[in-house]
Amino acid sequence: MGVKIIATGKALPNFKVDNDRIKELVDTDSEWITSRTGIAARHVALEESALQISVRAARQAMRGDAFLGVKGGSPGELQPGAGAIDPADIGLVIFATVTPDMLVPSMASLVKKEMGLENAVGFDLNAACSGFLFAAWTAQSLMMTSGIKKALVIGSERLSRIVNWEDRGTCILFGDGAGAAVLELDDSKTGIIDTHMQNYDDVNDVLICGMQYIEIPFIKEEPKDMFLKMNGTQVFRFAVGAVSEVMDKLLAKTGYSVKDIDYIVPHQANIRIINNIAQKYDIPIDKFQISIENTGNTSAASVPMAMDDLLRSGKVQAGDKVMLIGFGGGLSAGAMLVEF
Ligand SMILES: CC(C)(COP(=O)(O)OP(=O)(O)OC[C@H]1O[C@@H](n2cnc3c(N)ncnc32)[C@H](O)[C@@H]1OP(=O)(O)O)[C@@H](O)C(=O)NCCC(=O)NCCS
Repeated sequence: MGVKIIATGKALPNFKVDNDRIKELVDTDSEWITSRTGIAARHVALEESALQISVRAARQAMRGDAFLGVKGGSPGELQPGAGAIDPADIGLVIFATVTPDMLVPSMASLVKKEMGLENAVGFDLNAACSGFLFAAWTAQSLMMTSGIKKALVIGSERLSRIVNWEDRGTCILFGDGAGAAVLELDDSKTGIIDTHMQNYDDVNDVLICGMQYIEIPFIKEEPKDMFLKMNGTQVFRFAVGAVSEVMDKLLAKTGYSVKDIDYIVPHQANIRIINNIAQKYDIPIDKFQISIENTGNTSAASVPMAMDDLLRSGKVQAGDKVMLIGFGGGLSAGAMLVEF
């Protein structure tokens, strides 16, 4: 018995902001951003809510399009997909985000209502850029213990609302978007082979974002800074170390080696972090899904969107092993090995 990923989807807001447009806001240049990060553009939600983007991604996943290539088949030839998934079959919605439209109801509840998921229970989860990994792991665990047959896992962000658009160290990096996956409990298949999640204390506040509540009449509080704040160099160092640690621990748990992994879907934070991991493990770069160029770092949406890109490319064949890797605020990191 196991939990498989049977369908995926992604959605980006319409408004695209390229590096030249960012140059009008802060002292930077397009070439610097591209060479240091791999990012050429990002999308910013102007007229769409996080709910609308998320529902678009989820509806695409619920179509159950074909995404696995045929073994020995011609390039682009795809096996039949899961087919349209009945909304009544979804028993669980987990919504990973740090930028919900509202606190109450939860985003998962809003998705349930909007999509008519009459039999679903749902809740939100915050594990920053590792959010999708933590959510998929939670869904898998709940499905294995409670017998829920199908779950919808969404990673979605509107980071444009917490980024400081006057800080060139951060505003160049982040974007908005949503990714979704449908998970299915299967009596005969493994699907998710194993997972390793880890938290690290952010002792130096290298990646933080505060929040401001209303003033209460009994106490005088100083206004708080609500922007995302980051020490780029230290986060870079953390990311490289944490990715190696969760990869090594997951491989040790499963008994597989890096050579057994067909594709890697890393969190899309910086192309140099991905290159660094590729070099360290001597993994050809074409085994990594790289989607950062036109999205930037979309936090919890990054891994499911990149996974959707990889699966829709038709490169992944039945039986292939794909490792998903997340890291970010918390500090947090996680790796999940999935057999498709
Ligand atoms: C943010 C990041 C791109 C900065 O790149 P970097 O190579 O570390 O650059 P540094 O911060 O060391 O700055 C190098 C120089 O570029 C300058 N610089 C910084 N941002 C710049 C920008 N947007 N445009 C032009 N110059 C910039 C700095 O001021 C510095 O100039 P100096 O040498 O004259 O002092 C990089 O640290 C990074 O991506 N870190 C990881 C962030 C991340 O992944 N966060 C999310 C995790 S989920």
